[in-house]
Amino acid sequence: MSRRMISTSSTAALVLLTTSCSFIGNEDAPLSAMNPKGPFAQQIDDLFWPVFWIAVGVFVLIQGAIIFSVIAFRDRPGRLEPKQIHGNNKLEITWTVIPALILAAISIPTVSAVFDLTECGDDAMTVNIIGHQWWFEYDYPDLGIETANVMVMPVDQEVCAIMTSADVIHNFWIPALNGKRYLVPGQETLLRLQADDAGEFWGHCAEFCGLSHSLMRARAQALDPEDWQAWVAEQQEAALVPDEGTPAFEGLQLYEQLCTSCHTVDYGEGNEFTNVRSDDLFHGPNLTHFSSRNVFAGAYLPIDGETYQESLESWLANPPQVKPGSFMPDLGLTQDDIDKLTAWLGTLK
Ligand code: CUA
Repeated sequence: MSRRMISTSSTAALVLLTTSCSFIGNEDAPLSAMNPKGPFAQQIDDLFWPVFWIAVGVFVLIQGAIIFSVIAFRDRPGRLEPKQIHGNNKLEITWTVIPALILAAISIPTVSAVFDLTECGDDAMTVNIIGHQWWFEYDYPDLGIETANVMVMPVDQEVCAIMTSADVIHNFWIPALNGKRYLVPGQETLLRLQADDAGEFWGHCAEFCGLSHSLMRARAQALDPEDWQAWVAEQQEAALVPDEGTPAFEGLQLYEQLCTSCHTVDYGEGNEFTNVRSDDLFHGPNLTHFSSRNVFAGAYLPIDGETYQESLESWLANPPQVKPGSFMPDLGLTQDDIDKLTAWLGTLK
């Protein structure tokens, strides 16, 4: 290898090393796996660091021995050919037994963590997570709540996520709360999630699942007990029908015409505007409390404050342009239609 190649490749390695280090514990890197915010992510982190340092120790020792041998025993003018030997049983047994012992020692906490992370605690709250192309659905069977894109959870409470997929294989990953786990059609997988403090945690689908995989994001929002109670109460309420003659009411009428084969809004039992879809059918997100979320479209578009109008307009005008392959088609809406629908969605708090 030429000197130039050596210096170029070592510079590249250094840059890679330092840039990856900058993500460790960095609050601006919401998908960092080095920033645990709950006991299960912490459990993985506690496993990672000792194994990492053992690996560093082994690396330094082995590489050091190689470099030392290369320099100390290199060919020099006048040196005789060294004695030729084949095999050394003592040495070979030593360097087989030591790694075997190291791996055995590492496997004990690893296997126990793997088993611990696959079984939910007795006091866990169940949330069913269903993967769709390209968004996550969250159902709270004990609370009668069905939502999408943002998984709201109470602080310091274990959530037992029971996960499956409605179409292809997805993978749910909120690095601050736990590792990745597959969502497989026709199967159930479990994932334990818990947050120590209130806050928002970003996630992403971690398995290639089609055209808009890169836009299939996830959010978890941990709330303090009071806020959690308020959220539950709000989500359990039916939506309010807007006053007749308002743009929002006209938006509701448009929804009735165009959207009810995929979407659901609960206006209360017996209300003429309530539409309940069958669970067996293809469906899009439940919109009953659409505007209580701060993101939509697979947690990709923000809808808090100023972004509300802009995001909704770009989405409603042509969903597949925002998310390639989106099953929500371009409905050919006029600006007037979009304004009415946006006004109506704003009433779904
Ligand atoms: Cu779902 Cu990638």
